[in-house]
Amino acid sequence: MVKVDRVIVMGTAAAFSEEEVRACTLCECRNLQDLNLSECFNVTDVLLQRIVEGCPCLLYLNLSCTLITNKTLRELSRNCLNLQYLSLAYCYRFTDEGFLYLATEKGCHNLIHLNLSGCTQMTLNGFRYISAGCPSLKEIVIDDMPTLSDSCVLALTARCHCLCAISLLDAPHLSDIALEAIAEVAKLRTFRTEGNNQLTDNSWKALCRSSQGLRRLHAAECSRMTDASLKSVASLKNLHHLDISLCHKVSDTGIQYLTEGSSATKLRELNVSYCSHITDRSVMMIAQRLCKLYHLNLSYCESLTDMSLEWLSGSSVCSLDISGCNIQDQGLAALEGICLKKFIVAECVYITDIGMEKLCKNVRDLEHVDVSHCVALSDPAIRAISFYCRGLVTLRMSGCAKMTDMAVQYLTSGSQYLRELDVSGCVLLTDRSLRHIERICPPLCSITMAYCSSISKVAALKLRPRVKHWEHSNDDPPWFGYNIS
Ligand SMILES: *[C@@H]1O[C@H](CO)[C@@H](O)[C@H](O)[C@H]1NC(C)=O
Ligand SMILES: *[C@@H]1O[C@H](CO)[C@@H](O)[C@H](O)[C@H]1NC(C)=O
Ligand SMILES: *[C@@H]1O[C@H](CO)[C@@H](O)[C@H](O)[C@H]1NC(C)=O
Ligand SMILES: *[C@@H]1O[C@H](CO)[C@@H](O)[C@H](O)[C@H]1NC(C)=O
Ligand SMILES: *[C@@H]1O[C@H](CO)[C@@H](O)[C@H](O)[C@H]1NC(C)=O
Ligand SMILES: *[C@@H]1O[C@H](CO)[C@@H](O)[C@H](O)[C@H]1NC(C)=O
Ligand SMILES: *[C@@H]1O[C@H](CO)[C@@H](O)[C@H](O)[C@H]1NC(C)=O
Repeated sequence: MVKVDRVIVMGTAAAFSEEEVRACTLCECRNLQDLNLSECFNVTDVLLQRIVEGCPCLLYLNLSCTLITNKTLRELSRNCLNLQYLSLAYCYRFTDEGFLYLATEKGCHNLIHLNLSGCTQMTLNGFRYISAGCPSLKEIVIDDMPTLSDSCVLALTARCHCLCAISLLDAPHLSDIALEAIAEVAKLRTFRTEGNNQLTDNSWKALCRSSQGLRRLHAAECSRMTDASLKSVASLKNLHHLDISLCHKVSDTGIQYLTEGSSATKLRELNVSYCSHITDRSVMMIAQRLCKLYHLNLSYCESLTDMSLEWLSGSSVCSLDISGCNIQDQGLAALEGICLKKFIVAECVYITDIGMEKLCKNVRDLEHVDVSHCVALSDPAIRAISFYCRGLVTLRMSGCAKMTDMAVQYLTSGSQYLRELDVSGCVLLTDRSLRHIERICPPLCSITMAYCSSISKVAALKLRPRVKHWEHSNDDPPWFGYNIS
């Protein structure tokens, strides 16, 4: 008989038959530790009961997007005493009472990770039972649950005092009361929230004071996050990732706190996208003081100018997003002494071929380039990228309507490692481009040609069997005011 120690079953919609499950429990699956039944719509409580009775060693169970009910939760708490990771995300058929079994039966007292994203049917009692039944819980994910209230969080934190990672994306009603309750009991390493307009400076002050070891803070689109909030964040000792994108109130003062704070030499990833008040002065401080920064996202920071790219010269940044900024050729020409591997310059409508040529001469390590919707660019820009940046892996130039078959010819003769190409909306490209592209498949394994009206379906289809990802359409580009000039 076959012994299985570690199996990850890839769930496919309507894929699991009763025979298969019976076979699984009959063959020696007693040592099965990992089971992924996500999106198996055929998995019923009865089948699951059979599985868990036969597999007492389960550590990891992914039941997301299945139709299981309370009965499955009962069987889990009777049989899976070792279970550590459980995902019930987007399961709508169980109720609060299902979690009562965790508290009253033998229970899953060793549960470390629980994903309840999208389980909008849950109410206060459910969180009470979880708190009583799973005191060792370390990581809880409650994303996409707009119904989540402060009292649910209070109930959860009543007994769960070991929490170190909490994710509450899209829970707009949570207020300072919830965060202060978390701060009181937990020493967090990761905290994620998004789209909240209630949390004030008090929340961040409380959280950062109690969780000095916080490494990852995701607070995107928190409209009441201010410079004073960042002063608290700046007191953290070991912050590696910070995402405050779409926090409109943050200004240079907040960035100054951060760059003078205790984590200045620790930060690796910073996202200040859509922080429209921050200026070149912030970028100067970031470039000079955050000496380990790897990813920097400045996209749609409307106040930035070419000076910002000058400041970034010589910095540690390897992945830079300046999409939608008012950058011109002068800025591109000024960037040097930087080992940039990923450069996202989408929607920078003022940059021209001349700027791209100067940039590529100085920044030759580029592997991932996105110039989508840089409408002024044409063939010479692509010639420069493929001539100077020999290690190019990904190129996106969707919405660059001036590109002709020449651009694709330059690309396919210079970039021998290219794996991914997006030419959507390059309406001048013809079947000739496909003949060039065919020559580099492999390594090319992903091609996107939406809205390519001059590429025939017949020619496009010929390429399909040679790549993993393929997309083509002849439709007119949907972008407003899009024309070839
Ligand atoms: C679990 O299955 C889902 C659905 O097939 C799949 O998307 C996911 O990557 C799997 N997870 C793991 C860890 O294999
Ligand atoms: C799985 O469910 C689908 C409906 O979603 C059904 O048509 C199919 O017969 C089921 N397969 C098995 C093996 O139970
Ligand atoms: C469970 O499966 C889903 C896909 O349906 C996947 O997104 C998720 O990452 C899986 N969870 C874990 C912890 O692997
Ligand atoms: C929670 O589950 C959802 C759905 O399977 C998945 O997309 C998400 O990545 C999970 N979150 C975490 C942090 O594991
Ligand atoms: C279990 O869930 C069902 C809904 O799926 C509900 O009607 C029932 O009351 C619950 N049973 C118990 C014992 O909690
Ligand atoms: C930069 O942040 C925006 C969100 O504001 C996101 O859409 C984009 O993907 C990020 N860029 C990178 C390179 O991750
Ligand atoms: C912010 O940018 C970072 C990397 O630049 C990315 O990983 C993250 O997903 C972005 N945040 C949002 C909300 O898109």
